[in-house]
Amino acid sequence: MDVLNIAPVRYEEDKMLILDQTQLPGDTIYLEMQTKEDVWDAIYKLKVRGAPAIGVAAGYGLYVCVREIKAADFQNFYRQFMEVKEYLASSRPTAVNLFWALDRMEHCVKQFETAADRPWEETQQEIKRALLAEAEAIRIEDEKACRAMGEYGLTLLKPGMGILTHCNAGTIATAKYGTCLAPLYIGHEKGYDFKVFADETRPLLQGARLTAWELKQAGIDTTLICDNMASIVMKNGWVDAVVVGCDRMAANGDGANKIGTSGVAILAHEYGIPFYMFVPTSTIDRTTKTGEDIHIELRNGEEIYKLWYAKNMAPEGIKTYNPAFDVTPAKYITAVVTEKGILNPPYEESIRKLFEE
Ligand code: MRU
Repeated sequence: MDVLNIAPVRYEEDKMLILDQTQLPGDTIYLEMQTKEDVWDAIYKLKVRGAPAIGVAAGYGLYVCVREIKAADFQNFYRQFMEVKEYLASSRPTAVNLFWALDRMEHCVKQFETAADRPWEETQQEIKRALLAEAEAIRIEDEKACRAMGEYGLTLLKPGMGILTHCNAGTIATAKYGTCLAPLYIGHEKGYDFKVFADETRPLLQGARLTAWELKQAGIDTTLICDNMASIVMKNGWVDAVVVGCDRMAANGDGANKIGTSGVAILAHEYGIPFYMFVPTSTIDRTTKTGEDIHIELRNGEEIYKLWYAKNMAPEGIKTYNPAFDVTPAKYITAVVTEKGILNPPYEESIRKLFEE
């Protein structure tokens, strides 16, 4: 099976399906999303995860949850729509794609507010069709953005390079291709013999369970390491570039990504290795000024030693601290790869220009 054909979110025959990523690498299981609780739970429990895939799930999820609404008028429809929107927005706080996709869906509804020249029932049906089309657009645009990031990203890499990555910003974290894994897939098609090091990514092991699984299936040379081995691998001279994804980039170029990313960036800086962050424009939040303003998700500390293990890996009730993300300061990011091109520091300026264009 071609791993690039395994979509994290599918909408087929009026059904919304989510690849349950908590079952990987063992089982490839799709779950049907029928209620807003299903969608919320899938996002919160990381059945669907990765910023762009969360955005895609939010789009289809919102549509599926409002398509049965039978409202008496626009205001009533809008009120019910907003209840679902706000509920889904409470599932995870850091990846801005969640809020970006939900806002796009809201904007889509609002366009019909003044469509009073037709019977309301016709408008209601049209709103629903427009919402499905918007969800489809979010997915299709993300696939195109990832392909473009792959092409741009590949210009930074050379055949035979050693590449280290953290977490999973691959095909199942996006509509297709991934963000930072996209150049590896495209390079592989062209015969580049990359040697990839995948950090396991404690505590939920997205690197081990997902990145190693994706890349191995694609036939890309991949070595799994524990997070605390990145330094020795760099010291050994095996890493020519680091590529990572992003959950939210602030207007000044500070980027939040999976916990541990900032440590990898600091190590790369120390060893003189370029550190590239792959950030679709849907992940850039210009309303967030700096990394200090990014809401970092704190998760249940039992994830560190209990929830995923057959027996406790630490004494029951131990005090824990389990932030899901950290912020890599802009100064450690060599370049930011977007679907519109590669941004160079100072990012405050290059990000502003990107959006003005
Ligand atoms: O907690 P997760 O698995 O949703 O975290 C995912 C990441 O940190 C990814 O690197 C990021 O979302 C980019 S995905 C293209």
